[in-house]
Amino acid sequence: MAKVRTVFQCPDCGASAPKWVGQCPGCEAWGTLIEQVQDDGRANGANSVLAPTTAPVPIGEVDPTEFTPRPTGISELDRVLGGGLVPGSVTLLGGEPGIGKSTVLLQAAAEVAADGRQVLYISGEESPQQIRLRAERLGSMHERLYLASETAMPQVLGAIDAVTPDLVVVDSVQTLINPDLSSAPGSVAQVRDCSHRLVTEAKRRGCAVVLVGHVTKEGSIAGPRVLEHVVDTVLAFEGDRHHALRLLRVVKHRFGSSQELGLFEMTSTGLRGVPDPSGMFLADRRPGVAGSVVVPTMEGVRPMLVELQALAVLSHLPTPRRSAQGVDGGRLALILAVLEQRAHISTAGVDVYALAVGGVKVVEPGVDLALALAVVSAVTDVPLPADLVACGEVGLGGELRQVAHTPRRLAEAARLGFKRAIVPFSAPAAPAGITTVKVGTLLDAVDRMGMLRS
Ligand code: TYD
Ligand code: MG
Repeated sequence: MAKVRTVFQCPDCGASAPKWVGQCPGCEAWGTLIEQVQDDGRANGANSVLAPTTAPVPIGEVDPTEFTPRPTGISELDRVLGGGLVPGSVTLLGGEPGIGKSTVLLQAAAEVAADGRQVLYISGEESPQQIRLRAERLGSMHERLYLASETAMPQVLGAIDAVTPDLVVVDSVQTLINPDLSSAPGSVAQVRDCSHRLVTEAKRRGCAVVLVGHVTKEGSIAGPRVLEHVVDTVLAFEGDRHHALRLLRVVKHRFGSSQELGLFEMTSTGLRGVPDPSGMFLADRRPGVAGSVVVPTMEGVRPMLVELQALAVLSHLPTPRRSAQGVDGGRLALILAVLEQRAHISTAGVDVYALAVGGVKVVEPGVDLALALAVVSAVTDVPLPADLVACGEVGLGGELRQVAHTPRRLAEAARLGFKRAIVPFSAPAAPAGITTVKVGTLLDAVDRMGMLRS
């Protein structure tokens, strides 16, 4: 096949070069040039007037059922997508390697096939034999699930033509190549070009496409990030590889809310949905231990109860250690400073360890009060009541502020059998089943919990 002409263009200033160079000849920025197929000049139609491909229609005549989502059969995935995958849409599933992207999509592919639809799973990373072995282990075998091992775009499109699927999974977008471009697979030019063609194909055929995109720890790799505006939906699969918990978040969603959160547990037979995360996080809790506080936190619109733990030990270091796992280190430092200055509880000379149990990350301000009480409980060795939760934001003046969705948080706490909640003064009335202890300052809260040393 004849090679098309490509140029290297700077997306910032528009200058171009026939070959890749490190420094842009226009704006002199480094490393900005991206390979692009050169416009042959014939279709230079910005000044001409042509008939539109589809005539504009009054808004009332647009068919709304066109974007009805179809369930994938994986309930936590459907919850995040607001019902399922919309035909003709393109979804990007990003996440670190090994987090479970291929696993969840293979499970979803088999469920969709079992629902009577044709599914094509294109993998540039694993052979069909490997995928079959995995599918057998997951119980995800189905006759309408087709596998293809392709990376070049013409063959990928050929495979789609051959199967005429309702759902196409491409694992991963970084392995795709347009042979007309000289850049390597995974480069910005390749990833962008190939996914543009898949977006066009999805719209033309009305089939749903799911692209897998690997993201590194920094989340900055060429690939998923440059695609976010091209696709309809961007999902992020997160989790700590040493824990079984996986979180599926919505980064962008053209067809619904971007506040939903899906929770999975990685098991030996694939990913299993976690409909009751609070129950799971609190399963191994030992009540009555100093330094432990349960906080009703929010992940998007989903309330979750998480146990925070703190430990304070005499330090042998010139600068005492502050360790934060699953909680924000900056927030911990702020809370220690407020405790010292406003409540006269000093952590000088002690190492402070704080963590959120279960491999979750709780970084919202609503966990401040619970974190502060956990630290004070650890320092004073006074346990907090086992049936108590704490929620509120701590200000630099030591004052407490209410946080969003307090009633929903407390309702979740009540559902799991907690009887009391310590909350800021301004918090709205508590839902049935739980009583509130209202406090104005952190010092007040510590006093009411009986942890103030005279
Ligand atoms: P995978 O879906 O291949 O990750 P990704 O596609 O995001 O790179 O998942 C890989 C990890 O999941 C691997 O370390 C093993 C683990 N795993 C299980 O624990 N149970 C299972 O049933 C499967 C299929 C994988
Ligand atoms: Mg994979």
